[in-house]
Amino acid sequence: MKADGRWEGVYSFEDSPFIMEILTELRDKNTDSISFRKGLVKLGRYMGYELTKTMDTEEVEIETPLEKTLGTVVKDRRNVVIITVLRAAIPLMEGLIKVLEHARVGIVSASRGKAPNFEIEMNYIKIPNITPEDTVVVADPMIATGSTLIKVLKEVGKYGKPKRLIVLGVLAAPEGISRIKEEFPDVEIFVTKIDRELNDNGYILPGLGDAGDRAFGAP
Ligand code: URA
Repeated sequence: MKADGRWEGVYSFEDSPFIMEILTELRDKNTDSISFRKGLVKLGRYMGYELTKTMDTEEVEIETPLEKTLGTVVKDRRNVVIITVLRAAIPLMEGLIKVLEHARVGIVSASRGKAPNFEIEMNYIKIPNITPEDTVVVADPMIATGSTLIKVLKEVGKYGKPKRLIVLGVLAAPEGISRIKEEFPDVEIFVTKIDRELNDNGYILPGLGDAGDRAFGAP
């Protein structure tokens, strides 16, 4: 995991060959829906694992069958809320929750309209109450214009102020990150890689196409 010098609290996983290999498979246009979904689940699991390295831990006293000893628990793993942004975050969440298995899960349906306005529609919102102990992980694979996430983050804010607010995705465009950080300076962003730019239709380049269509085989 490496910090990006352009923004505070923005991290990518370009230093992880295994995560880069999964990303490469996701980018490949010849990867079918089954492998694409499996790739997203795998990424969720490994990114979730990397996330635990940034969480607060605590020493606990336990007894092995032979003697008393000290162990470690990831304290913050017990207080996680995962917000799943439909559709493409479903497989990502499936992987994340394998590591963050205590998580309460919120669901938000947010879809982006067409260029030039990319108006966001939110039709379904179910978010648990958020406490000051919580780490909120908003899972959305593609951070493109940032408009969807800004709308989702504003909605999440209505349910309480967490200890940490994290956006976790597969790819991001610099434009989207800048917009999110302008509105939410404290939000942390974790992505496998920050790509070059957005095209005129709001797609990330080189990107991987439409993550929802590719995961579910339906436009
Ligand atoms: N959403 C996607 O699925 N892909 C992009 O490139 C941008 C937004």
